[in-house]
Amino acid sequence: MISTISNMSKFVFFGGKGGVGKTTVSSAFAVRSADAGLRTLIVSTDPAHSTADVFDQPFGNEPRAVDGYDDLWALEIDPEAELHEHMMEVKRAMDDQVSTTIVNELNRHVEMAHQTPGAHEAALFDRIIEVMRGADGFDRIVFDTSPTGSTLRLLSLPEHLEGWIERLEEKRAKSLKLFEYSSLGADRKDAKRRTREDPIINRLRERKEQFEFAADVLRNQAAFFLVMNPDSLSIEETRRAIGTLKNHDLSVDGLVINRVSPDPDEADRGAGGAFLREKHATEHDRIETIHREFDEPVIGVIQTRTSEITGDALREILAELTIDVTSLA
Ligand SMILES: Nc1ncnc2c1ncn2[C@@H]1O[C@H](COP(=O)(O)OP(=O)(O)O)[C@@H](O)[C@H]1O
Ligand SMILES: [Mg+2]
Repeated sequence: MISTISNMSKFVFFGGKGGVGKTTVSSAFAVRSADAGLRTLIVSTDPAHSTADVFDQPFGNEPRAVDGYDDLWALEIDPEAELHEHMMEVKRAMDDQVSTTIVNELNRHVEMAHQTPGAHEAALFDRIIEVMRGADGFDRIVFDTSPTGSTLRLLSLPEHLEGWIERLEEKRAKSLKLFEYSSLGADRKDAKRRTREDPIINRLRERKEQFEFAADVLRNQAAFFLVMNPDSLSIEETRRAIGTLKNHDLSVDGLVINRVSPDPDEADRGAGGAFLREKHATEHDRIETIHREFDEPVIGVIQTRTSEITGDALREILAELTIDVTSLA
């Protein structure tokens, strides 16, 4: 049976633990989308640059056409660079706002804040939102990652920010009224202008809008797939990921089981044959568990190949991915 995903899903996310095959499966899926004539952008978030390995071509921070394919582009986000850029931006914004005597002190705080766990993810998510916003020229954007708990929490930020912004605006209006009364002539005009254009409040508004946009897109125009391997650890991880997404009203559209051993040769009486038979049996158990315990459809069971999956091998594994991309867009 061929599974379909909603025709609203312009954005497709492939989640899963490191090494399960997210980049491989999302690249294959992107190739299928492009083969179907959809202008497809694959977005890699892996610092190991594995999309570049898959297509044997370097990619950068802006979409670049993938050689040898029609309608396929790739972009690589470097989380480290994003984090650095984010930090510099905050520092620049602060520089304009505070006196030089405290700017050094504040800079230290900003640097510390950017070293906390989750900072990378937050910066990465910012860039992902930016890519989603600028996606007009594409029919389909495929990400080899899925938002995690800490980034999903940002989606509820707009509600909290709204109250905060309102209170800040009231306070600011009051203090600026005083400032205005105490100013004369041209100064008064300047005071009026400053009431309207507070950079901090503007920045908060921007952030609020940004996360509102992301929440709307993730709820209404996105599909989520989880890639897993046939082992207990991966099953647990998948359960957790489904739970996290569910907590934010997002549901998983399908599961891909990758790295499944080929059928053993019953006649092989050697040690290798015995090993493969046993491994195959264990994996078979795990796959049964997945079918039994998850409501989400399994949309692909992909065999382990004897070497890394790059180039033409991508199209080979497409045969094992029973997802129809043509009903989308
Ligand atoms: N079915 C498979 N058979 C053989 N090698 C695979 C298979 N799936 C993935 N790989 C290889 O395993 C490595 C990790 O896969 P990758 O897709 O980069 O994982 P992730 O993006 O989840 O970290 C890569 O070298 C990839 O080529
Ligand atoms: Mg990867």
